[in-house]
Amino acid sequence: MAIRNIREMGDEVLTKKCREVTEMTPRVKELIEDMLETMYEANGVGLAAPQVGILKRIVVIDTTGEDPHILINPRIVETSGEQTGNEGCLSVPGKCAVVTRPNYVKAVALDVNMKEFELEGTELLARAICHEVDHLEGRLYVEKAEGPLKDVNYDEEE
Ligand code: NI
Repeated sequence: MAIRNIREMGDEVLTKKCREVTEMTPRVKELIEDMLETMYEANGVGLAAPQVGILKRIVVIDTTGEDPHILINPRIVETSGEQTGNEGCLSVPGKCAVVTRPNYVKAVALDVNMKEFELEGTELLARAICHEVDHLEGRLYVEKAEGPLKDVNYDEEE
């Protein structure tokens, strides 16, 4: 496993639409392991493959630090409710902004064995699923920000 370089806003790779994964290969497995390691090392709650420069539809999410979700070719199939709050991104370091997202999300994705599964989430997990799936379409949260980007105040972090 290895820590990969996280691409930052302004890098063209973050604006591209990603391609579906059609088969699990040792290379894809290694990418997923590296993405998890890179996310944890950066204290993130999610990471999408384009953030490490790979245009594949793969995201990893862990909102609690002990519950990693790996989603290949994820699709959001149901949403409800609304939440408005601060959101950040490892590709926009030190910044956050207010974004409104659904409060409940159901996604369908493939696992590392290319078996379909469902992931349901509320609150932070719902927000993370939406944020990461946006990355696969080449979209950053800053496009949805309500108001200006703010500096993250680490003293106020929960
Ligand atoms: Ni992000």
